Amino acid sequence: MVKIPNHVGIIMDGNGRWATLQGKKRSFGHRAGSKNVDMIVSHAFKSGVKSLTLYAFSSENWARPKEEVDELMKLLKAYIIKFTKKLLKNNVRLKVIGERDKLSDELVSAIDDCEKKSSDCTGFNLIIAINYGGRQEICSAVKRIIDEGKEITVDEISAHLYTAPFGEPDLIIRTGGELRLSNFLLYQGAYSELYFTDVLWPDFNETEFDKAMAEFSTRKRRFGKI
Ligand code: FPP
Repeated sequence: MVKIPNHVGIIMDGNGRWATLQGKKRSFGHRAGSKNVDMIVSHAFKSGVKSLTLYAFSSENWARPKEEVDELMKLLKAYIIKFTKKLLKNNVRLKVIGERDKLSDELVSAIDDCEKKSSDCTGFNLIIAINYGGRQEICSAVKRIIDEGKEITVDEISAHLYTAPFGEPDLIIRTGGELRLSNFLLYQGAYSELYFTDVLWPDFNETEFDKAMAEFSTRKRRFGKI
């Protein structure tokens, strides 16, 4: 029987190297990577996945050159504005996770607008992590539990994570050849199946996504049991 992951997370790595290999600037790679997002979202939806979390900008990515940070922020805003209509048409709910304090007012208002308009969509959840860090997410969950005067338990922390409405990721894919999580979905990824590929994000296509899905289907998930 083929097993389909309910929730997939993707660390979209390798844009910079993809551009460098072609003698182009890193931002060229980010633009190509951004174009790839729509195709993978549609394909995940068609494959029966219910929620897809994309790591677009980590809380550590601010340390990159300003020009690159500006380009990534521009691409994120353009993507959200451009795709709001399509998301609504396809019954897709958008949720952006991460801290919003450092994002521009224009980006925050594009996010708010799309999140509000798509809040009742039930066909698919597209979660984009922007200025996101797994450690920060856990800290902020714990702070909120304390503010609410509740006891800190494993289940309470889970319930206070940004991704709580979408369940834990069953599968985390990382493109670009690095073998680490880089602060992505640390708490909710405790029992996620991990899939690493050398393919750079702009080259990660439907066939590559299907390979990850096929690999997931062969994994035996025991969640610490035997
Ligand atoms: C990692 O590649 C990728 C990022 C830091 C950004 C990911 C962003 C996008 C794919 C574009 C915008 C996203 C959306 C959702 C529209 P890298 O730059 O670290 O590559 P490298 O490891 O080759 O240097």
